[in-house]
Amino acid sequence: MEAAAAMRKASSQASLSDPDDFDLTRLLNHKPRINVERQRSFDDRSLSELSLSGAGTGSRGGWGYGGAGGGMENYESMYSPGGGLRSYCGTPTSSTRLSFEPHPLVGEAWDALRRSLVSFRGQPLGTIAAVDHSAGEALNYDQVFVRDFVPSALAFLMNGEPEVVRNFLLKTLLLQGWEKRIDRFKLGEGAMPASFKVLKDPKRGVDKLVADFGESAIGRVAPVDSGFWWIIILRAYTKSTGDATLAETPMCQKGIRLIMNQCLAEGFDTFPTLLCADGCCMIDRRMGVYGYPIEIQALFFMALRCALLMLRPDAEGKEIMERIVTRLAALSYHVRSYFWLDFQQLNDIYRFKTEEYSHTAVNKFNVNPESIPDWLFDFMPTRGGYFVGNVSPARMDFRWFALGNCVAILASLATPDQASAIMDLIEERWEELVGEMPVKICYPAIEGHEWQIVTGCDPKNTRWSYHNGGSWPVLLWLLTAACIKTGRLKIARRAIELTEARLARDGWPEYYDGKLGRYIGKQARKFQTWSIAGYLVAKMMLEDPSHLGMISLEDKAMKPVLRRSASWTV
Ligand code: GLC
Repeated sequence: MEAAAAMRKASSQASLSDPDDFDLTRLLNHKPRINVERQRSFDDRSLSELSLSGAGTGSRGGWGYGGAGGGMENYESMYSPGGGLRSYCGTPTSSTRLSFEPHPLVGEAWDALRRSLVSFRGQPLGTIAAVDHSAGEALNYDQVFVRDFVPSALAFLMNGEPEVVRNFLLKTLLLQGWEKRIDRFKLGEGAMPASFKVLKDPKRGVDKLVADFGESAIGRVAPVDSGFWWIIILRAYTKSTGDATLAETPMCQKGIRLIMNQCLAEGFDTFPTLLCADGCCMIDRRMGVYGYPIEIQALFFMALRCALLMLRPDAEGKEIMERIVTRLAALSYHVRSYFWLDFQQLNDIYRFKTEEYSHTAVNKFNVNPESIPDWLFDFMPTRGGYFVGNVSPARMDFRWFALGNCVAILASLATPDQASAIMDLIEERWEELVGEMPVKICYPAIEGHEWQIVTGCDPKNTRWSYHNGGSWPVLLWLLTAACIKTGRLKIARRAIELTEARLARDGWPEYYDGKLGRYIGKQARKFQTWSIAGYLVAKMMLEDPSHLGMISLEDKAMKPVLRRSASWTV
């Protein structure tokens, strides 16, 4: 559906949806109401019911987080070293309320997650990337990464422990205010750090923070995703706690505005997508993700929508909100139309003419059909589709990227049909995209001469390893969320089962290698925090699908998608 039509439809379905759903028409005239209700929405209810019928699990019934934060002040006391009996605090809230036994890995995962917590001046502030004492040099794995903290934040929120999330949000906001320089160049005001570290000075008894905005990172890569994730976490916090006061503080409002100003700045662009350098996101090394990578476009879209829900339409906010609304319409149109690839679209591109001048051009970006890689003709099923990795003049990166496609579903950047088709593709190409360890970061790997050119001969990113077709357990939470949103619970259950068979036994690795994701990654860290937190989030969401509301945005133009699938997935 065209964006304009989608928006028209959006305003006519207001009664069915959550109060903070995507409704462009009312936003400019009214103060956006940040959701303070804990009642489940129409969608949430359907989700719980669906899960109840399938999984035989219980739902907590609503958004109540009795005891949220209660007794949670002292994180140190919650961790029980040695994996012995966990204190009551170490027991996940959600599981204690259910009548069935939680999977044995859940307790182990909570203990490991709590071990990764770092505190700053006595307050829990975030989780470090990995607690791997066996690995040699820590590099920056002993830092709190903004993107890595996302599943940790969700796990703590889902477990009714918002304090660490709140501290994280406020502290990163202070870091945003620092002057950021690389050599003699000053970075944009809105930039958020990729990571930060707490330096303990036991002598003087003070903790200090050091942050990395790209000036220390390998390759000096800019974390374009950090600001977007920060906004998404703030909205998850607001939604889960019902506490809108944090987002409404002048400090948070300013933080959101600075991020928005930076990503909405006008330049020479002819596209509404955001132009980025390589290494700008989860794939933070040279991997040919420069240009307009789908991961950033999907996060950009989601952050724009979350910002719109949280900005106050005051003198400073209103103008930005107008720009957001205009950009959202252009961005969704562009991505839905030009990034989308399915059998039909592939066949159209295959028959494209080139060198078309003027507005009537069908092949707008002058993509040469000869640039379609051979693997794609066999890979593309008749059922299914996905957003390709990148679209720019004469360049379509036809690779499939997990994060971008899942976030596109969660943010409703994907139309309902596109969302179902993405899940169809995962089902049809299970071996390639999920294999033995969910989920492939991208497919396929690049090899040989192409690998030399695209990665700059990166030995960490050889074929089917790390960012180059490696399998990343952290992506399980995103897959699970996308499954719940599209009503394809069986896919999520199957993926979680695969993970449970190996992840803890292997020491919670960062990534797996090989075509099927069978081997623990060559340089993978163990006890990688987001592998642990990702598993917990996936489990908690499946147990109580109403958690999805924290990380998913409905589109009123979307039909309720929770119909039972005709396929094997339900
Ligand atoms: C690697 C990953 C990056 C992650 C970091 C810390 O560099 O590519 O996405 O944030 O490790 O875990």
